[in-house]
Amino acid sequence: MNAKTTSASAPGKFILLGEHAVVFGKPAVALAIDKRVQCTVKTSDTNRINGEVLIPGNNPHIDFLLDKYGLDSVDVCIESEVPSGSGLGSSAALSSSLSAAIRRYLDLDVEKIAIAKDAFDTEYFIQGNASPLDTSCSTFGNGVVLNNDGSGSPLWTAEKNGKRWKISSIKAPKMTFVIGFTGIKASTGPLVAKVKKYTENSSFASEIIDEIEAITSEGIRCMENNDKEKLGKLMIQDHKLLSILGVSCSELNKLVDAALIDSYGAKLTGAGGGGSIVALTDRPEKVCEKITRHGGMPFVVGTSSDGVL
Ligand code: MEV
Repeated sequence: MNAKTTSASAPGKFILLGEHAVVFGKPAVALAIDKRVQCTVKTSDTNRINGEVLIPGNNPHIDFLLDKYGLDSVDVCIESEVPSGSGLGSSAALSSSLSAAIRRYLDLDVEKIAIAKDAFDTEYFIQGNASPLDTSCSTFGNGVVLNNDGSGSPLWTAEKNGKRWKISSIKAPKMTFVIGFTGIKASTGPLVAKVKKYTENSSFASEIIDEIEAITSEGIRCMENNDKEKLGKLMIQDHKLLSILGVSCSELNKLVDAALIDSYGAKLTGAGGGGSIVALTDRPEKVCEKITRHGGMPFVVGTSSDGVL
């Protein structure tokens, strides 16, 4: 092949409601953010990452996708505005954007369902027990709902090892959120495994998962009715339930409490154990100030964003 360069980008996301419960087939809502990961694929002498020879095992997303497409002589360059380990879907955005860049490199269709599938396969391979929420949101952008029969327009259906997820898009009303990153990087896999173990050993944990389900379904209705007050209250309840499941930590709780003073609601977002909180607010500057004062890194995000480009 002649020397060639292609690229693609995909947004990070945050989970508004339903994280962890989604792994058990319950609904969840994710919203894409205006921070992106960009991947460039260019012809090289061997497989490289940002110019350095790719060491198998060190970059599993890249290994997986290059292997899937039979590529052995490309340099993958990654530029990311999404802090890794922050709960903002940096690895899903990497998988989606790399899939699209590779497909362009090989003159294949940049078809969103194919990319969503690739990205989900990658995350599932790496995490062992991922849902297609993060990867679908990075691929399609805007609002994405999983497993909610009534809401939104159907996008695609994912299937893995006998599990099935319906993925739909929803129009999120204009809302302002502030993300507060604790600075603590936490990996999703062990936290998902911890909740799984808890539900296997305790019917109380399964009841919490059911309560999260009810909150998420109600939250979807609040978004449809643009009811920020009620949505905020549901976010607060959801945070309490996630804390009971053992996926919050003192740094997250501190940022939630600090943000709540000027917000409709706030909660951890993503896997927890560190990572970020999200606050729904009309006073983003004040929330940013409070998050900074309590040791977090704030940034303001809007609700609407493109998917993979
Ligand atoms: C991680 O961002 C969200 C979890 O629900 C795991 C998943 O959906 O794959 C914790």
